[in-house]
Amino acid sequence: MNQPSKKIGTIRLQNLSYAHKQAATLMAAVELDLFTHVSRGCSQLSDIADTLQISRINAERLVVACAALGLLEKTDGEYQNAADVDRFLVKGKPTYIGPWLLFSRMDFEKWRDLGTFLKSDEPPKTLGLYETLTEEMAREYHEATYSVGLGAGMLFARDVDMSQRSLILDLGGGSGAYCIAAVQKYPHLQAVVLDFEPVCRITDRFIAQWGLTENITTRPGDFTRDPLPQDADLMIMASNLPQYSGQMLIRILSKAYESLVPGGEFHLVGETLNDEKTGPLGPALWGIHESLFGSEGRSHSESEVRHYLETAGFSKVTINPFIPGSLSRITGIKK
Ligand SMILES: C[S@@+](CC[C@H](N)C(=O)[O-])C[C@H]1O[C@@H](n2cnc3c(N)ncnc32)[C@H](O)[C@@H]1O
Repeated sequence: MNQPSKKIGTIRLQNLSYAHKQAATLMAAVELDLFTHVSRGCSQLSDIADTLQISRINAERLVVACAALGLLEKTDGEYQNAADVDRFLVKGKPTYIGPWLLFSRMDFEKWRDLGTFLKSDEPPKTLGLYETLTEEMAREYHEATYSVGLGAGMLFARDVDMSQRSLILDLGGGSGAYCIAAVQKYPHLQAVVLDFEPVCRITDRFIAQWGLTENITTRPGDFTRDPLPQDADLMIMASNLPQYSGQMLIRILSKAYESLVPGGEFHLVGETLNDEKTGPLGPALWGIHESLFGSEGRSHSESEVRHYLETAGFSKVTINPFIPGSLSRITGIKK
């Protein structure tokens, strides 16, 4: 029997062209703290309008859009948070990632002109976004990355046995989230976060907040140019991958290989593509994001990263799932 032919329509394409409305709805709901109030029992439209101090009609617009996006669920006229919203978007919970979601507003305007950026013939800048990093940008950026990075750091500390290691070097360690989580689990460890100078000033505050200044220090520098500290037996480079070209990654990884102690391990936690380069979506979008900042970066596949690590000298390279759809952890050993 013939299969009925699948009707081709315009809705998928239209919805994609409106995707900025979805992002803006989510960000407005986070900014107005809708989900925190819903979790505290504010579950009817009239309560939501009063609590958020917005008109009834705007409360209705917001709540209807959030329900259509699957952020709120409606039962018998009452709204509840979807499970992921309740876990990650309720202020006060240690799992709250609101600052990270709101950080996307930083380049919201630029995306409108993506076509123009893609046509640019300006010479690429090695550091892209980071060429003009100020302390204010670093503060906003890392309050955002910290909110999502600490969870990733805890996963890393759960997956990687660091009991026999003594010194971590975290290249582009940002808020210090990975080192903070590592030292929490393995208090004997020392750790160094290497990042740009304005970032290190912010990192120092996070480290102090956790009372970990005895274990974790910062080292201002640019890992594409400056020498790396010696003696680390475990190195991490997390969420930096699409910022750099393959050639630059091989240079950075070769430097890392040279400075790691023999037997040491390197973990690249990166936004990798599948080997066909057909997804996942998040890593693919991080690649195109780089065009907004004129860097040489692009998304890289897992097998490309394996090749970069092996070219730099690492052996026993393994690809490990980390955060499916977002990050893989690719590991190599220095003989
Ligand atoms: C997306 S953040 C990730 C931070 C942290 N690794 C994490 O996963 O939470 C990228 C970080 O890499 C740093 N970075 C990028 N290129 C760098 C370079 N050439 N030298 C030092 N730090 C760099 C940035 O300043 C930023 O803090």
